[in-house]
Amino acid sequence: MCRVIAIANQKGGCAKTSTSINLGIGLVRLGKRVLLVDNDPQGHLTLGLGFPKNLRVTLKNMMENIIMGVEFDPKEAILNHKEGVDLVPSNKLLTGMDMSLITVEDREKVLKEYLELLEDDYDYIIIDCMPSLGMLTVNAMTAADSVLIPVPPQYYAADGLVELLKVVKNTKKRYNPEIEIEGILFTMDASRYNNAKRNKKAVIDAYGAELRIFEDTIPRSEAIAETASEGISIFAYDKKSKGADSYEKLALEVLNHGKKGK
Ligand SMILES: Nc1ncnc2c1ncn2[C@@H]1O[C@H](COP(=O)(O)OP(=O)(O)O)[C@@H](O)[C@H]1O
Ligand SMILES: [Mg+2]
Repeated sequence: MCRVIAIANQKGGCAKTSTSINLGIGLVRLGKRVLLVDNDPQGHLTLGLGFPKNLRVTLKNMMENIIMGVEFDPKEAILNHKEGVDLVPSNKLLTGMDMSLITVEDREKVLKEYLELLEDDYDYIIIDCMPSLGMLTVNAMTAADSVLIPVPPQYYAADGLVELLKVVKNTKKRYNPEIEIEGILFTMDASRYNNAKRNKKAVIDAYGAELRIFEDTIPRSEAIAETASEGISIFAYDKKSKGADSYEKLALEVLNHGKKGK
C-alpha cells in the first residue's frame, strides 16, 4: 500500500525541500518505490534534483486536468531522477493555483484525486509543501496519510508550530480524518551549542507528550547545503557524511513507523 507523507512547515528555510529529497532517496535506497511531488511554485525540489525551470508539463497541468474532469495520462508529468526517485515537477506557473482553486468545487481534494491515480506504482509519495498554509498546503494535507514537520532548533521554533498544527487539526476534522503527524524532525541541528539544545527542549516540552519527535536529528552540514546546486542527494554527494547517516536513519524510522505512530 502506498503511504503519502506531506513535508510541511509554513516557515521558509527549515529544510522541507532538503528533507523531501534525502528522505525520498533514502527510502529508494531501502528498496522502496518513491514519488516526490513538488507542491511549491518556487520549484526548489525540481531544481534541487537538477531539472530545469521551464518544464512544459508540471503539477499545475495535472491539477488542471483533474479540475476540468478531462481524460489524461497522469504519468505524463513524471520525471525520473538518476538516483531512482520519480518526480512530479513544478515551477512558477503553479503560483496561480492557490487562487484558482478557490472557485473549484471540492477544491481541497484536487491533489488527492491526482495522486490516487499514481499510488499503485509507489510505496511512498512525498509532497514537498510551499512555505504557506494556503490551499496548496491544505491539498497536500488532504492527500496525506501523515505530515512530517522539519524544525530547525531556533528561537520561537515552538511558536510557529501552533498555526501549523491548527491547520492539520482542521484538515483532519473537515477533509481527512485519517491524517496523523508523522513526527517533528529537528533539522540544521547544532547540538553542541547550548542555544540549539535550549530551543529543542522548548519544542520537546511543548509537544513531546502529544507528538512523536524523531530521536535522530539532521545536523547542520555544509555538505547538505551544497547538494542543492548539484542536483543530487546527500547519499550521492558524500555517502559517509553525518548528513547521509542522519537521513538514512530517518528513512529507517519512517519505514518502521508504518501506520502505528501516535
Ligand atoms: N542540514 C542542513 N545543514 C545546512 N544547510 C541546510 C541543511 N538542510 C538544508 N540546508 C540549506 O538551507 C536552505 C533551506 O533549505 P530548504 O530545504 O530549501 O528549506 P525549505 O524547503 O523549508 O525552504 C537551503 O539552502 C539548503 O541547502
Ligand atoms: Mg522548499
